Amino acid sequence: MRVGVFVSGYGSNLQALLDAAAAGAPYEVAVVIANIADAPALDRARRAGVPAHVVDHRGRPRQDYEADLVQILREARVDLVCLAGFMRILSPWFVVQFPGRILNIHPALLPAFGGPGMYGLRVHEAVLAAGATQSGCTIHLVDERVDGGPIVAQATVSVLAGDTPATLAARVAEAEHRLYPVVVRAIAEGRLLPGLRAAVLAGG
Ligand code: GRF
Repeated sequence: MRVGVFVSGYGSNLQALLDAAAAGAPYEVAVVIANIADAPALDRARRAGVPAHVVDHRGRPRQDYEADLVQILREARVDLVCLAGFMRILSPWFVVQFPGRILNIHPALLPAFGGPGMYGLRVHEAVLAAGATQSGCTIHLVDERVDGGPIVAQATVSVLAGDTPATLAARVAEAEHRLYPVVVRAIAEGRLLPGLRAAVLAGG
């Protein structure tokens, strides 16, 4: 199974996916695409020998930008798209190019603490402000709603007394790095969402 990963920043989830693939997981990270030219995630891809592309979204119609994304994914024969800290909303047009084959990871237990504006430390600030005793991460299929597609998997972490947004973020990040490779591997092996795997492998 060939995986394309979209990134905008640090790329620690990309690294987790790369490390699992290097350790023998039954998928290959075939291409990495960033919308930010100096995203540290791009260096992670290059170090792993994975083609890394920058597709700048600024100053051009969204349709042109997304058409470039699709072309790169098709040329790399990507079966599954994983968003990993990708800070752009994808249009319904893009989503239907890879129906049911785009995953996103979010650093909270959706449907809580998701939606427009809920990213980065804001998520963890909101979790702490709400007095939640648990947080975690969610992997979901991407549809036209922000953080709104069907949930595929979640991992929980405890909120501890004295947590700050930063300490909670670090604990959630560890859970993310465990969960994303497990989910991608499970899809590749047909142990999770067999229908999704069938669609992925059929390329449709
Ligand atoms: C993660 O917390 C992910 O849930 C969110 O963006 C963050 C990306 O971090 N969508 P990284 O770039 O993978 O380190």
